[in-house]
Amino acid sequence: MKKQPFHNFVVDHMTFLVEPDLYKTTYALFRIILGVSREDLIYEKRSAWPGQKPASMTFASRIGLEKNPAVPNQAIIAVVQPTEPETQSSHVRTMLKNRGGGCHWQHIALRTPDLLGFHKFCLARGVNFITPILKDAEDDLIQVFSGEWMTPGGKPTATFFEFVQREPSPELLKELESSSNREAWFKDKTFLGLYGEKESEYQRGKATPFIPDELAEKIAARLKGLEVWEIGDDLLDTVESDMLEHAASVAKR
Ligand SMILES: [Fe+2]
Repeated sequence: MKKQPFHNFVVDHMTFLVEPDLYKTTYALFRIILGVSREDLIYEKRSAWPGQKPASMTFASRIGLEKNPAVPNQAIIAVVQPTEPETQSSHVRTMLKNRGGGCHWQHIALRTPDLLGFHKFCLARGVNFITPILKDAEDDLIQVFSGEWMTPGGKPTATFFEFVQREPSPELLKELESSSNREAWFKDKTFLGLYGEKESEYQRGKATPFIPDELAEKIAARLKGLEVWEIGDDLLDTVESDMLEHAASVAKR
C-alpha cells in the first residue's frame, strides 16, 4: 500500500438522520449545548410538498472552525467488530442488528480546547454521560462519552457523542487526578472503558439517553407546533432555563 497525495482527508461534515419527534429537540440541543449560533446555521432547506405546510427538511450547523494553523486537524475512523463468542452477549452485535446489520456509524468525537469546562457546562444543563472523563494513555487524550441521542422512552439508537481534548496540560491532568471524587472524574482507561460501559447498558436492555426523558419531554412541549425557523432566541433561553432547573433539581434529590 502506498500513500498517495490525495490520501489526506479531514472530516468536512457529518449527516445525522433523526425522527420528526426528535428533530426540534435536536435543533435546540445543538443551539444550546453545542453552541450553534444563528451565523453557524449555514444551510437550511424547507419542503414544498403539494398540499402540505412547508416543513424544515434539514439544517446544517457549523460546530467549530479551527483558525489556528499550528493545530493540526486530523480525521480518524475507528472500525469495531463484535468478537464475543456467539453464546455470549455483545452490545456491538445488538447495535448492528437493531440498525439493520452490516454497518452503523456509532459515535462522533468532537474535539474541544476545554473539555472540563464543556463537561461542567453540560452537567449543569442535564446532559448525561455514561463514563467519567477518561484518559487514553497511548494517545495523549482525555475523553468523555454522552448518552444516546433518542426520543423520550424510545429504543436505544446506538448513536452518541464523544468529546475529547488532545494534549491536556500536566496541570489539567493533575487537577483531574486530585479531584475530591477521583473516580467520578477520571479513570486511566482506554477503549475498554467505553466498551465495558456500553456492554453493561445493552445487557440491561436500557441505554442512558443524552438528556433525561423528563427533560426531553419538557423541551418537546416547549417547541410544539413550531418549525425550527420559528424558534426564537428567547424560546431557546427558556429551554436552557428548563435544562438548568432540571439539572439543579436532580442534584438536590
Ligand atoms: Fe471514539
